[in-house]
Formats: sequence, C-alpha cells, structure tokens
Amino acid sequence: MQENQNQGKGDMTKRATKRRVKKSPGKKIAKKAAKKMNKKTASSVSKPDARKKGEQQAKKTAISAPKKSGSFTLTNNTTGEKYELPVFQGTCGPNVIDVRKLYDDTDHFTYDPGYTSTGSCQSKITFIDGDKGILRYRGYPIEQLAESSDFMEVCFLLLYGDLPTGAQKEKFEHDITYHSMLHEQINYFFRGFRRDSHPMAIMCGVVGALSAFYHDSTDIHNPRHRMVASFRMIAKMPTIAANAYKYSIGQPYVYPRNDLSFPQNFLYMMFSNPCEAYKPNPILARAMDRILILHADHEQNASTSTVRIAGSSGANPFACIAAGIASLWGPAHGGANEAVLNMLEEIGDKKNIKQFIKRAKDKNDPFRLMGFGHRVYKNYDPRARVMQKTCNEVLDELGVRDEPLLELAMELERIALEDDYFVEKKLYPNVDFYSGIIFRAMGIPTSMFTVLFAVARTVGWVAQWNEMIEDPSQKIGRPRQLYVGDDERKFVTLNKRK
Ligand code: ACO
Repeated sequence: MQENQNQGKGDMTKRATKRRVKKSPGKKIAKKAAKKMNKKTASSVSKPDARKKGEQQAKKTAISAPKKSGSFTLTNNTTGEKYELPVFQGTCGPNVIDVRKLYDDTDHFTYDPGYTSTGSCQSKITFIDGDKGILRYRGYPIEQLAESSDFMEVCFLLLYGDLPTGAQKEKFEHDITYHSMLHEQINYFFRGFRRDSHPMAIMCGVVGALSAFYHDSTDIHNPRHRMVASFRMIAKMPTIAANAYKYSIGQPYVYPRNDLSFPQNFLYMMFSNPCEAYKPNPILARAMDRILILHADHEQNASTSTVRIAGSSGANPFACIAAGIASLWGPAHGGANEAVLNMLEEIGDKKNIKQFIKRAKDKNDPFRLMGFGHRVYKNYDPRARVMQKTCNEVLDELGVRDEPLLELAMELERIALEDDYFVEKKLYPNVDFYSGIIFRAMGIPTSMFTVLFAVARTVGWVAQWNEMIEDPSQKIGRPRQLYVGDDERKFVTLNKRK
C-alpha cells in the first residue's frame, strides 16, 4: 500500500492492508483495525459507546421500506379495467405513485423521457423544494451550512447522516488528509495526455484508472471497503485536479501537505511551486470551502443518477465516479460554469445584453442563457444567493471591485429577471451563474471550473452510491422504452437489395 504519506500514523487502510497481505482477509482483521482506529482517534469515547455510535450511524443512513399513505386508481379507458397503485409518503416533498408492478399487472410501461416525473430511488441525503428555493443536506438548510459549517463537516454529514462531534471531526479530517497523496505511478499516467487536453478529459481517465491501483477497496459489499474507497476519492480528487492543471501549464506536481485544511491544501497544490514559499489566503480558502459546500450534493441530478446507475450493475466505485464526472462535464450540467464565462466574454459589453436575451428567447436559435434555468428550481437557486455574496467577498479581498464581468453578469441577471419570457418560464440564475466569476478572480482558468465542481460533488456521489448499495430494494437500473422502429422484416440478401 503506497498511497499514504510517510507519517502513516493511524492510517487504518495501511494497517488493515498490511495484515491482509500476511493473512487472508477476514472479519477478525477488520474488527482489529476498527478497534485500533477507535482507540487512537476517539480516545474520549469508550469502546461500547463507539460501537453504539457506529450502529446509530448505520441506522441513521439505512433505507427501509417506504411508508404507504394511500393509493391511486388507474383506469384503462379502452377496456374499463381498473388498477390500484400504492402511494408512498416521504418526510417532505411530493408523494410518489408506486408503479413497480404496473407492467406485470397492466402490460404497460410508463413513459417519461428526462425523468421529469419519475423518482428513481428513496434517499435520506438531500431535499430540494424547487418552487420555494429550498436545499437541505440531511435536513440542514444550505445557507446555514455555508455560513457556519465547513466542507469536512459537510462531507461527514452527507456520508454518515449527522454532523460530527469534535472527536469524530478530528478523526475524519485525519483520515481524509492521510489519503490525499496519489500512488506515484498515477503521476506518470498524466503524461499520456496531450498538454492541451481538457482537464475534465484527464479527470475521466485518471479517476477511472484509480480502480487499477486500489484493489483493496473495491469489494462493494464490504462496508469498510466502501468507506475506504469513499475516503480515497474525496481525498484524492483535489490532488488529481491540481495535477491535471499543473500538467497543462508544464509545472511540477505539488504534493499535498498534511498541515493544511482541505481547501487550503487544494489552493496550495494549484498555485504553489517548488521555487518559493506559498501561504494560502484565508479569505480565498474560506470562499473555496463555501463553494465546495454549495456543490457537495444535489439529490438525483444527471451525474448522481449516472453514478447510481453505473453502480447498480455492481461496478467498482472508482469506475462509477468516473462515469459521474463524464456526465457532469456537459454544458447543461456542471459544464455550465465554464459556459457562463465564455458567454459573458462573448456578450462583451452591457450594450449587447438585449441582443443575447433576444437570441435566448428565439426557438430557432440554439443559444441559451447559460447559468439560467434549472430542472428543479422554479425560484432563485439558494446556492446562487450564497455564491453571489461569496463573489463579492472574494472580489473585495482581491481588490477587484469593478470587475467588468461581474457588472455584466449582474446587469444580465437584472434584465433577464424583468423579462416576461424568463418570468413566465420561471428561469432564475443557478449556482453556476456566479461561480465562474469567483474562480476567475482566484486565478483558476476557465477549463478548470467544472473540475472544481467535480472535486466538490465527489462526496455527494459517494454518499449516494453508498446509500444505493445499502438499499435492500436496489436493483440494476434498466429503463424500458417505447419502440417506434420497424416491425419484423424478412432479411434481404445483398444481391437482392436495391
Ligand atoms: N435560456 C433560455 N431559455 C431557457 C433556458 C435558458 N437558460 N433554460 C430553459 N429555457 C426554456 C426552454 O427553452 C423551455 O422553453 P419551452 O417551454 O418554450 O420549450 C423552458 O425554458 C423549459 O426548459 P427545459 O429545457 O425544458 O427545462 P429542463 O428542465 O429540461 O432544463 C436546464 C434545465 C438544462 C438546466 C436548462 O434550464 C438549461 O439548459 N440551462 C442553461 C444551462 C445551465 O445553466 N445548466 C446548469 C444547471 S445547474 C447545474 O447543473 C449545476
């Protein structure tokens, strides 16, 4: 096991794996490692208490059978036959109609391209009320988390269901920190890419390749393997992202530093070089932390659903996260932050805004106002509000109050929000509208914007993936279709085809 820094002290993975090499893996070994880990890092908590806490945490995240709250009657208007469909109630949000038996009972499928009305799973992780502009992680409003928490706490919350105690936080930060270094051979992997590769292309490749390096955490039915794989991905993603950037500008990779916090370390790996000392700016580190919190999870969006569907076949977690990164890349999803900046640059001046708004409304023009609109939010995206505030703080700190792109963005937002088209369709700025301006002010190149989103979203992906594996009702994701192609035809031999 070569991933962990030399300090190695208390690294549960290293110890467990060492033993596993000598003997064969088994429950005893995992128990021993877990015991040791508890002793080392949660000294204030007694062993039975720690076990009880672990069980409580497992209960907190476990998914059980949904609560039936009524039914719907479906009538086939051709035959007059009636079918009863159970209705399930969640904690908040709309109820769902259970159609799992529909095909068996009625010989019909449902049809819902884009899943606009389809729930694909039960989840306890994130709740969104798009009409009211509400986003909560495990019940906590995003605004409160962004204001008072930090990214490491939010990671713990998403993974384990509750905010950590002091001892749990310390241990968790330690575990993440001590998984941040990459296997040295992964660093050579980058060299296979062209220097001008898009960093998201590098992310897809390198993250997928992690499964070739960390075989000891790919047993998806082993909770401990799943958690180690989750830690590895959360911890290594900033290192991979920073390396992708360093590779593109021809600078040496900067190895992670264990004395820095998660956001500080990321800024350090991105912006330091071996020739001079680098001290991360606390305001920028705080802003980065907040951006990470805002992007950490967003329930069943395209990339998360991709991770879940990839994982539903039993694929290893690294491969699933690589699939999520691929899905995130598109401009309709995480690629929007890059697209917003490109759009603002294309608009160039306030006097051109009206013309671009006109284009966005034209059905024959593929142009859309990037950073505007959302499948779920039909109100202001609560993350966009926090992002706008953070944007002002960053620009103040950097002394670039009169950033023309920010002024342009604010004017574009003002005009769009007064326009009937955007009002009627309930199109508001989403999280990506302001994030690009912050990133640019921090000196992050446009092509890295979506990479940062991937770094933040990794915890959400792994939390959702873990939840899916633990869900007793989980099945391979396999949608149906309405076939509209040719009916059966007789094969025509080549010499008879016209
Ligand atoms: N500019 C102009 N018109 C828009 C925009 C926009 N940004 N977004 C939606 N519309 C219009 C559509 O043309 C459609 O009009 P119609 O009813 O006359 O056909 C209507 O609003 C509804 O839009 P849909 O595309 O059907 O909504 P959907 O939920 O499928 O799409 C999406 C949501 C992809 C986010 C869309 O709003 C969009 O493309 N926005 C720009 C890209 C963007 O910012 N993506 C980031 C999303 S947030 C994230 O992933 C982090």
